[in-house]
Amino acid sequence: MVYRSFLLSAAASLVGALVVDSRQRTSTSEVPDYFNTDLAYFPGPTATGSAPFLAQTNPAPFPGTSYIPNSPLETQIPIAGNSKNGNIFQLHGHLSHYFPNPDGFGVDEYPLPAGAEIVGLNMLSRHGARYPTIGSGVYDFGQKVKNLTGMFNATGQLDFLNTWRYKLGAEILVPVGKQELFDSGTLHYYMYGHLVNNTDGNKIIARTTTQNRMTQSAEYFLAGFFGLDWTLNATLERIIEGWTGSWNNSLAGYDNCNNSKTGVSFGGADATKKWAEIYLANATERLHALIPGFNWTVTDSYNAQSLCAYETVAFGYSVFCDLFTYEEWEGYEYSVDIGFAGNDAFQSPTGRAVGIGYVQEVLARLKHHTIDGPTGQINVTLDNNTVTFPTNQSIYLDFSHDTNIMSILTAFGFTQFAEFLPPDKMIPHELVVSHMASLPEPSYHKQTHSQH
Ligand SMILES: *[C@@H]1O[C@H](CO)[C@@H](O)[C@H](O)[C@H]1NC(C)=O
Ligand SMILES: *[C@@H]1O[C@H](CO)[C@@H](O)[C@H](O)[C@H]1NC(C)=O
Ligand SMILES: *[C@@H]1O[C@H](CO)[C@@H](O)[C@H](O)[C@H]1NC(C)=O
Ligand SMILES: *[C@@H]1O[C@H](CO)[C@@H](O)[C@H](O)[C@H]1NC(C)=O
Ligand SMILES: *[C@@H]1O[C@H](CO)[C@@H](O)[C@H](O)[C@H]1NC(C)=O
Ligand SMILES: *[C@@H]1O[C@H](CO)[C@@H](O)[C@H](O)[C@H]1NC(C)=O
Ligand SMILES: *[C@@H]1O[C@H](CO)[C@@H](O)[C@H](O)[C@H]1NC(C)=O
Ligand SMILES: *[C@@H]1O[C@H](CO)[C@@H](O)[C@H](O)[C@H]1NC(C)=O
Ligand SMILES: *[C@@H]1O[C@H](CO)[C@@H](O)[C@H](O)[C@H]1NC(C)=O
Ligand SMILES: *[C@@H]1O[C@H](CO)[C@@H](O)[C@H](O)[C@H]1NC(C)=O
Ligand SMILES: *[C@@H]1O[C@H](CO)[C@@H](O)[C@H](O)[C@H]1NC(C)=O
Repeated sequence: MVYRSFLLSAAASLVGALVVDSRQRTSTSEVPDYFNTDLAYFPGPTATGSAPFLAQTNPAPFPGTSYIPNSPLETQIPIAGNSKNGNIFQLHGHLSHYFPNPDGFGVDEYPLPAGAEIVGLNMLSRHGARYPTIGSGVYDFGQKVKNLTGMFNATGQLDFLNTWRYKLGAEILVPVGKQELFDSGTLHYYMYGHLVNNTDGNKIIARTTTQNRMTQSAEYFLAGFFGLDWTLNATLERIIEGWTGSWNNSLAGYDNCNNSKTGVSFGGADATKKWAEIYLANATERLHALIPGFNWTVTDSYNAQSLCAYETVAFGYSVFCDLFTYEEWEGYEYSVDIGFAGNDAFQSPTGRAVGIGYVQEVLARLKHHTIDGPTGQINVTLDNNTVTFPTNQSIYLDFSHDTNIMSILTAFGFTQFAEFLPPDKMIPHELVVSHMASLPEPSYHKQTHSQH
């Protein structure tokens, strides 16, 4: 039932205008003046200073300092075996709440050389932290607990399961996911605000997909970048992302790549499963003993780890987090990394195909031309027209999914992420998903939707 009504509403959301101003203000004639939220109503002085350009003016890095964002989430939970004083919440792969990449992307960073100027930005952002996708293993875990309640008697660390209930939603942004995008928009304004000089009323086009979390992520970002009045500065273009059929959408390239949804591209999910049998063997034995009558399996252990990640971003705290040792959390991150490597990146036969359309769009923008013939993933109706595919902007803002972003990085040929990751042991590696695309669900359990 839950699935069905969700699918219907997702389908309904596909119908509608391509270009929308989502902050439709209530007409002032319909509300009393004291409920009028029009920013032009008795606004007071509104002078603004010059736009910042921190990307260019920042002399950092300074030795020995780092940016520490504040957080509404409870992440101080003691974790067994955490001798490194590490943070397990940064070992949640794509489900980790956003944090700055602690060690770069396999390339060294340098300050801007003297005489160099930044003249443009092409940004591709992931959506924010969200509830599990439909078909996720954690939902099945919730159903199993519900089905078996009364038939098991959990004790010790699992005592809470006697009364625990699955309370997560599906697909849409959680509160901290909205904050992530607002913060990112704010950060990008500091970094690149100078590049936007459309004070003459020209608006830039920003692009996202029709999915609820994709659209809202773009809106929160734009609110952070421009303010709540962002529709004066940007027009949001929503490219159709379907649940059925095959749509052309470079921000959701798997839609138009049927093989990305079949077994040939599930090598990553298979590797995740194989690795889970190894790194979760101890935990499964330990937890199995605490809950007679439940038949606790490796899949249950894996779902319990995912629940720690999901409940943390949805509710601020999760009782599942301290069930596992630090080493088991390192195993979890690795399970996500090999999943992405095999499903979406260099180890996947469809990885590049899914990402190639976006690469072609970036090349077209750099050469200031539109795209007038069918090519992988691109919707030519949109890209053969400067209204929907402008090529003269100094700042391009696009929003996509993590799996799709991973495929785009692959299509660009960032071979530092190409290394084969064995499913039977952890090796040091560059493709660390929590450092690249914080937040969705490793396709460990089901494969119905490969987007995250
Ligand atoms: C829970 O019970 C429902 C209804 O009997 C059944 O359809 C479902 O498969 C069960 N789920 C699990 C995970 O046991
Ligand atoms: C559950 O197990 C504990 C410990 O063995 C026992 O004290 C308790 O009475 C049991 N509860 C139920 C509802 O069976
Ligand atoms: C706007 O910014 C672009 C890119 O920095 C620059 O080329 C252009 O001259 C600027 N236009 C104005 C009116 O400042
Ligand atoms: C946004 O548009 C408004 C109205 O044209 C303008 O006053 C403001 O400077 C613009 N903001 C930016 C950051 O360009
Ligand atoms: C991909 O699958 C969709 C939905 O089943 C189908 O409509 C489409 O024709 C298929 N495309 C190709 C190229 O096989
Ligand atoms: C291309 O985009 C247009 C405008 O949203 C839409 O009507 C059309 O169905 C899309 N075509 C494909 C194949 O995605
Ligand atoms: C599993 O237990 C063995 C024996 O206690 C230990 O050597 C190993 O490190 C444990 N593995 C994990 C992933 O915790
Ligand atoms: C427990 O689960 C495993 C794995 O799903 C299954 O093979 C086994 O038959 C189950 N045992 C019982 C007693 O249900
Ligand atoms: C692209 O646009 C041009 C100019 O409007 C038109 O002549 C051409 O047929 C279009 N190509 C496609 C593939 O839609
Ligand atoms: C969508 O992609 C298919 C396959 O690449 C192509 O044949 C078709 O012309 C494209 N449609 C649009 C509107 O771009
Ligand atoms: C880009 O081109 C469009 C269409 O020619 C024009 O309306 C717009 O002002 C241009 N924008 C910039 C930033 O030059």
